[in-house]
Amino acid sequence: MHGDIEKILIAEEVIGKRLDVIARKIHKDFFDENSLQVVAILKGALVFMADLLRRVPLELEIECLNVASYHGGIESSGQVDFLDRKLPDVSGRCVLLIDDILDTGRTLAAVSEKLREMGAREVKTCVLLTKDKERAAAVEVDYSAFEIADEFVVGYGLDFDGKYRNLPYVGVLNPSVISS
Ligand code: IMP
Ligand code: MG
Repeated sequence: MHGDIEKILIAEEVIGKRLDVIARKIHKDFFDENSLQVVAILKGALVFMADLLRRVPLELEIECLNVASYHGGIESSGQVDFLDRKLPDVSGRCVLLIDDILDTGRTLAAVSEKLREMGAREVKTCVLLTKDKERAAAVEVDYSAFEIADEFVVGYGLDFDGKYRNLPYVGVLNPSVISS
């Protein structure tokens, strides 16, 4: 698995230190909030969310959403499908929406809009990575741990074809893995 990685972009210790900073900010910003609902987008946000929220000593609840915007490969399909039969009840809640990466922006734009439609009082967004590129959908991110160049990355929750999510760092795949 590690042999498929061409280079490590963000090492485990670097991620940990940055999460300390983001977690402190979230703690401070939501300190007076007594109805905090975290919504994580499966499966990419799992690793990031688990490490981040264990650093945030606030009373909160966690829900996960299953959406599909990628259907294998490395290109976004452009459409965001909600796959859950029942969506979490967020009406009147303050929501912290967590995803792995802001790429085209379609996922976060579609999910934040849906949560607002469902009556969320406030929706704040949080991502591990923001790709430096033009967005297909306008979206504002409130917390972003790292900015990266516009290249395909895996690890720390992010996958290629379902794999590499459990790498403890963010890395770039060998091109031979993608083309094979
Ligand atoms: P969006 O294009 O901003 O809607 O991002 C959709 C989803 O694409 C993200 O939540 C990731 O799961 C996936 N994605 C985007 N860029 C990458 C990448 O570089 N590696 C792995 N997954 C990615
Ligand atoms: Mg994915």
